[in-house]
Amino acid sequence: MLPPKAIRTYRSPDPPIHTDTCRLICIGAPIRRTDEMSAIFLNKSKYGLSFYMQYLAHWPEYFQVAESPSGEIMGYIMGKAEGHGENWHGHVTALTVSPEFRRLGLAATLMTWLEDVSEKKRAYFVDLFVRVSNQVAINMYKRLGYIVYRTVLEYYSGDPDEDAFDMRKALSRDVKKKSVIPLVHPVRPEEVD
Ligand SMILES: CC(C)(COP(=O)(O)OP(=O)(O)OC[C@H]1O[C@@H](n2cnc3c(N)ncnc32)[C@H](O)[C@@H]1OP(=O)(O)O)[C@@H](O)C(=O)NCCC(=O)NCCS
Repeated sequence: MLPPKAIRTYRSPDPPIHTDTCRLICIGAPIRRTDEMSAIFLNKSKYGLSFYMQYLAHWPEYFQVAESPSGEIMGYIMGKAEGHGENWHGHVTALTVSPEFRRLGLAATLMTWLEDVSEKKRAYFVDLFVRVSNQVAINMYKRLGYIVYRTVLEYYSGDPDEDAFDMRKALSRDVKKKSVIPLVHPVRPEEVD
């Protein structure tokens, strides 16, 4: 649990938090990388360190950590750019906000940031996968302009496996919004490109 001082400082920004109240930093500086990774990745994440390292190596521009002025990690987002032709898109691989800092608009800020990166890369859309049971996240993405493009059956392995929604938001390059015409039928994970 964070000390009360840190919580008090960031409780109620209204309008939602912006980059002047929470510093968005790219973890490109090696000296910071160790601290942040140990805090976020090793203690709080379901992914292994090598998974994150791979992303950092390939898509450092798609990796942002939100840090409070006093140094707490508030949340992070990581993603990548992939696909060919009109399937060239930005992808959100992980988005997490620490429970102490939720409902401050931080996830929305991180998503806007990733969309901006994708716009600069001339991507047609941004997509992400979310568990069909994760109603909080699904509602948030809908509020941010994402639609359910398709259902991916048993995308998440577990006991039992769980379906995913593949959600998308068209970017400015997709003038005719072709990327966000939902598929009628669900697909299997092996059909996802
Ligand atoms: C989902 C998650 C990233 C949201 O982060 P957040 O910083 O609290 O989200 P924001 O404050 O930017 O919320 C933006 C909007 O989403 C909706 N929303 C977010 N959390 C909500 C909640 N718990 N209940 C209802 N609506 C919610 C609201 O409409 C909110 O806007 P508002 O506060 O002005 O009403 C965070 O809850 C989290 O890390 N969850 C666990 C990890 C996870 O599920 N990640 C997504 C996996 S794909």
